[in-house]
Amino acid sequence: MQAIDLLRQRKSAVKLTDPAPDGRALELMLAAAVHAPDHGKLRPWRFVVIPREARAGFGELLAAQLQRTHAASSPETLARERQKAFRAPLILVVAAHTTPGVKIPVIEQVLSAGAAAHSILLAAVALGFNGVWKTGAPAYDETVRAALGLGADDVIVGFLYLGTEVAAAAQAAPREWRDLVHHWLPPG
Ligand SMILES: Cc1cc2nc3c(=O)[nH]c(=O)nc-3n(C[C@H](O)[C@H](O)[C@H](O)COP(=O)(O)O)c2cc1C
Repeated sequence: MQAIDLLRQRKSAVKLTDPAPDGRALELMLAAAVHAPDHGKLRPWRFVVIPREARAGFGELLAAQLQRTHAASSPETLARERQKAFRAPLILVVAAHTTPGVKIPVIEQVLSAGAAAHSILLAAVALGFNGVWKTGAPAYDETVRAALGLGADDVIVGFLYLGTEVAAAAQAAPREWRDLVHHWLPPG
């Protein structure tokens, strides 16, 4: 696939299954991620790999977070939350390890991690896989962050659910962009 077609056609997976991008494919995806633009060469990216066998534990983290913040959650709601970990055979947490107080604003460090996450999704497609980027309240929860081995200055930008698309969706319809652009000229 030509790079420009990949960029124009990427579409999130609806349903994911095995095989997961592991081994060499995962290495290539991470190698792509660290080519994200990086102001100040801070290398702000952090990646936490949650392999298949750790998904139940990740599901417990999600459910515990929900229970902490919504104590009245029913057992069914909590069970649904646990199940989210099984959306895909591999989960990759992408975070920005931010360094406050340097010349590069923290928002730029977080944006760089967002760019890395997008590169991972694109690399997944290039390698025959697909994924979907999720966040939700657990992404912004201190307890979840610490349980994943991340620190107080780390900002989770996404949980990337990765695998093989069950039924590749019909090719994405071209998206309109003209209404989002205007050309600026200096006054006068
Ligand atoms: C930072 C970020 C967080 C997201 N979090 C969620 C989420 O928690 N749940 C969800 O359904 N979609 C979430 N999305 C959107 C999906 O990843 C996806 O982009 C969207 O469903 C549109 O599909 P598309 O990627 O095929 O255009 C998020 C996207 C971004 C960029």
